[in-house]
Formats: sequence, structure tokens, C-alpha cells
Amino acid sequence: MTKEKERKMFVGVVWNCAAELKLLLTAILFIFSLITILQFMPSRFSYTPSNLGTCVSAPSIPITAAVDSVSFSVSAVNATAIPPPPPPPPSLDKDEVLENGVIKRAFNPFGSAAYNFILMSAYRGGFDTFAVMGLASKPLHVYGKPSYQCEWVPNDNQQKPINVTGTKILPDWGYGRVYTVLVVNCTFPVSVGDGRNGGKLLIHATTNGGGDTKFNITDTFVALTESDQDFVNFTSTFNKPPKYDFLYCGSSLYGNLSPQRVREWLAFHVRLFGEKSHFVIHDAGGVHEGVMAVLKPWMEKGYVTLQDIRDQERFDGYYHNQFLIVNDCLHKYRFQTKWMFFFDVDEFIFVPKKSTIKSVVNSLSDYTQFTIEQMPMSNKLCLEEDRGKSYRKWGFEKLVYKDVKRGIRRDRKYAVQPRSVIATGVHMSQNTVGKTTHKTEGRIKYFHYHGTIAERREPCRQLVNDTKIIVDRTPYEVDTTMRDIAGTVKRFELKMIGPTLQRTRQ
Ligand SMILES: *[C@@H]1O[C@H](CO)[C@@H](O)[C@H](O)[C@H]1NC(C)=O
Ligand SMILES: *[C@@H]1O[C@H](CO)[C@@H](O)[C@H](O)[C@H]1NC(C)=O
Ligand SMILES: *[C@@H]1O[C@H](CO)[C@@H](O)[C@H](O)[C@H]1NC(C)=O
Ligand SMILES: *[C@@H]1O[C@H](CO)[C@@H](O)[C@H](O)[C@H]1NC(C)=O
Ligand SMILES: *[C@@H]1O[C@H](CO)[C@@H](O)[C@H](O)[C@H]1NC(C)=O
Ligand SMILES: *[C@@H]1O[C@H](CO)[C@@H](O)[C@H](O)[C@H]1NC(C)=O
Repeated sequence: MTKEKERKMFVGVVWNCAAELKLLLTAILFIFSLITILQFMPSRFSYTPSNLGTCVSAPSIPITAAVDSVSFSVSAVNATAIPPPPPPPPSLDKDEVLENGVIKRAFNPFGSAAYNFILMSAYRGGFDTFAVMGLASKPLHVYGKPSYQCEWVPNDNQQKPINVTGTKILPDWGYGRVYTVLVVNCTFPVSVGDGRNGGKLLIHATTNGGGDTKFNITDTFVALTESDQDFVNFTSTFNKPPKYDFLYCGSSLYGNLSPQRVREWLAFHVRLFGEKSHFVIHDAGGVHEGVMAVLKPWMEKGYVTLQDIRDQERFDGYYHNQFLIVNDCLHKYRFQTKWMFFFDVDEFIFVPKKSTIKSVVNSLSDYTQFTIEQMPMSNKLCLEEDRGKSYRKWGFEKLVYKDVKRGIRRDRKYAVQPRSVIATGVHMSQNTVGKTTHKTEGRIKYFHYHGTIAERREPCRQLVNDTKIIVDRTPYEVDTTMRDIAGTVKRFELKMIGPTLQRTRQ
């Protein structure tokens, strides 16, 4: 069923290109001859936006109207410098009767359904290496063999540009939809860039005939522009110990989130991770006014950074492009923190009383990555003794029934030392340098209150006066571990930001 669909999609892409390409190639040829005549610098031209997926296009072709979406937009080519050529008349391939009487059918593609590459970000990861994050047409990757050439172009004309083949990493486990997440790792054989002139990282994204075997299209774009000062700043960050001990990379926040639940989550984790911690929250449409109000005091104290990633919604990927977002976060903050945590806002990290989060990570410092086991909690069972006052209690204070069903494989979450990580996922990273351990039982776990965060009602639906209960064939037992620390967390919040959030709504 899905296979069938994908095949159709692929056929669509193939079918949609050839005539368009003819048209476009004619236009490009025209422009290039124009460039030659005007002795206009051809390098400027290579920075044109990549157009609708596997079809290349010059900015003057009318269908490129759709392109201003791409961040490196049409303005990169100065319209005053290159007068737009008149669009060539459409010439469709026609069916033909061959000499032997066979009818040769024609195929005329129009437009293209997915971009070749959608750039989100690029970061330096060392003196010779960069990571470029984006989305790419999924059928192109599943059925074709696109390739990526990285080129470092120094601003100083005395220095030569240098090319290297980019390594493509697809970190989303095949979860993509129209688009799949792509991390291109560009590692040059020598150091590039310096603190005097700066330079640019170009990506040449080549389809190698995927989409239309008749054409080998290369779209070239600037992934990163680095000034001399950027390089100096990178060097200093790279050589200094990281600013934070713990940095949280949140995945895409979406839906009608409960401000109260987010408030509880933040107070709990700021207390857990401590002064040298930071939280990067990604708003894919979930941060409405009420949620913003609970983030605000922590943003003002410097604990929270909010990234608005709503525009990625335009590109159909897996769950609000969360795999793209976590990879951006990894590379953006890679040198600013010792440890990076990846989990959700309905999950609460817990370490036993005898330890601290610091002592736990110190005991795991030989590992690049460790995963964290889940303790699933009921999202509706509460204690009879809370009757009539549950609405005043915090979520993790009143939802005390843990799901003790055995033999179920449950999701894990994870933390990494980001300097040794090249790309990352949602449940773990599969591109690390160094070891991973899953043996963290008894040292660290997370309580998962599934389905409570995007719910604006009081979560307690069933009050129970028993330490054990079976609901819908799932056995539950009382576990007051989290309830017992609620008081401490509330006092911590009050001490840190005062009473401003005291009237937060569900
Ligand atoms: C083209 O260049 C001229 C002069 O350098 C500038 O004024 C104009 O804004 C540019 N136009 C675009 C579309 O970049
Ligand atoms: C790219 O890959 C190389 C080799 O695996 C690695 O050493 C380097 O750190 C990676 N670069 C980035 C920016 O992740
Ligand atoms: C790098 O590769 C691109 C694309 O193949 C090519 O256009 C460019 O000239 C190359 N640059 C160098 C310095 O070889
Ligand atoms: C497409 O072009 C690139 C860059 O010029 C080249 O490296 C590659 O071999 C070509 N692929 C095919 C299938 O012709
Ligand atoms: C470089 O770092 C300095 C000091 O932290 C900062 O003021 C400046 O804005 C940074 N420059 C760039 C280009 O990022
Ligand atoms: C719970 O049940 C016990 C007896 O089984 C009873 O004594 C107690 O009052 C009940 N507690 C509440 C809060 O209803």
C-alpha cells in the first residue's frame, strides 16, 4: 500500500521533469551566453536558489515564483544585472509514428513535487569539518543516489577553493514522508577558513539522474557564510570548556499544550539540572500565549531559549520534522555543553535520592551516549484522598499510578556527550564516536505521563483507594516517588521566579 504510493510518487517526479527541463536548460543556456557576453562573474550565478526539487531552474522562469520560500532566495541574483530573458515558447514532445509503424509515445513533465534540498542550517564542527542540516526529497533518496559535493570558497581570492565529497547521513530511520531528513557531513582533508578573511561553504547537490534519468542536475547553494569574526568565535568556543553542564534539546512542540504541565516540567528540570543548564524549546505551533507565559520567567533568567520552527510545517516530513530539529540543536550547541539530553515535555528525568544528576553522568563519562529507561505512568488514575483537591495539585504529584505490565518493550530516551556525536535521532543516536550503554537501570529513569501535555482538562478521571488496580487489563501500582518531591519543586520555583506562575491554568 505505502510501497505502491511511493512508486506513484516516484513516477510523478520522473514524469514531471523532462519538458520543464528542456525549457529550463534553454533558459539557462541563454543566460549563460548572456553572462559570457556581459563578462559577468559566473560565480554569482551558481548561488541561485534550487528550484522545485529535481528540476533545476533559472530565477527568471515564471514557475519559480514558488521559490521565495527558500531562505536563500531570488534576491541572491541581482535582477538588475541579468535582464530576464523572454520565456521560450513551450515545446512539447509529441507522439511519433516510427518507420516501422510503431507509435512512440511522448512524456512531458510539468513542475516538480519536492525540492532537491531544503536548507535549515550549517555549523562548523571543527577546523576541517561542517554539518549541513536539511530536508531532501524522500523518493530521490529511496530510489535514486543523490550525491553532495562540499566546496570551501575562501573570501581571499589568493586562496584556492577546495572540494570534498560530502557524507550523507539519513538519521530518521526511514520515517520521512515527502521529505526525509538529511545531514551532510563535509570533512575536508585540511583545515579551512581563518580569522582574517572568512569564507563560504557551498553544497553542490546532484541528483545523478534520480527523478529523470535524462538529466544529471546539480543545485548549488551557500550553506554557510563565515566571517573572520565567526571563525575567531568558533575557535574560542571550541577551545574553551563548555558553558553548560546540561543542555536539553526539545523536539517539535505542537498542539494545544497545557501551560500548567509545561510549568511543572520546567520547574522540575531546572531544579534537577541546576545552574549550569539550558533548555532549548522548539515551537512548531504548540507555544500559544499561555505556554509563552510560563516560559517567559525562565527565559528572562537565561534558562530557556525558544526557537520558532513553525515554517518547517510547510514541508511534509515525520512528526513536525523532529529529526531535523534535534540535529540542528545538536550541531548548534555542540560545543556549549558537556551533556545533551533528548526527551519530551511529558517526561520527567529522575535519579535516586542517594545520587545527583551530576554524579550519575560522571559515573557514565566513559560513554558517549547512555539511554534511559521509561517508567510509564497512568494519565488518569489518582488517589481517593485527593478527591476535591486534585485540581490544586501538580500533575506528577497526583498521577501516582505506575503501569507495571511486564514484557513490553518501551521507548527509551537518551543523553550524549555531543562533541562525539555526528548526527542524532529521537530515541538514540546511531552516529556516535565512542561507546553507548543501555545499562543505566537503578541509576536514572524517566517518568512518562503520556497524553497529559496536550490535554487542557483536569487529568484525574478515576479516584482509587487502593495501592493496586487493574484498568483495561493493565495492572497499576501506587508509586509516590514523584509525589514526594512536589513540595520541594514548588518551593524551588517560588524561590527562583517568585509567585508569577501561581495562577497558571491547566
Ligand atoms: C541590485 O543591485 C543594485 C545595486 O547594487 C541594488 O540597489 C539593488 O537593490 C539590487 N537588487 C536586488 C534585487 O538585489
Ligand atoms: C563528520 O564526520 C567525521 C568523521 O566521521 C567526524 O570526525 C566529524 O566530527 C564530523 N563532523 C561534524 C561537523 O559532525
Ligand atoms: C567543486 O565541485 C563543483 C561541482 O562539481 C565544481 O563546480 C567546482 O568547480 C569544483 N571546485 C573545485 C575547486 O574543484
Ligand atoms: C552527475 O554529475 C556529477 C557532478 O558533475 C558527477 O560526479 C556524477 O558522476 C554524474 N552522475 C551521473 C549518473 O552521470
Ligand atoms: C563573537 O563573540 C563576541 C563576544 O562573545 C560577540 O560579541 C560577537 O557578536 C560575536 N561575533 C559574531 C560574528 O558572532
Ligand atoms: C480507603 O479505604 C479504607 C478502607 O478500605 C477506608 O478506611 C478509608 O477511609 C478510605 N480512604 C478514603 C480516602 O476514602
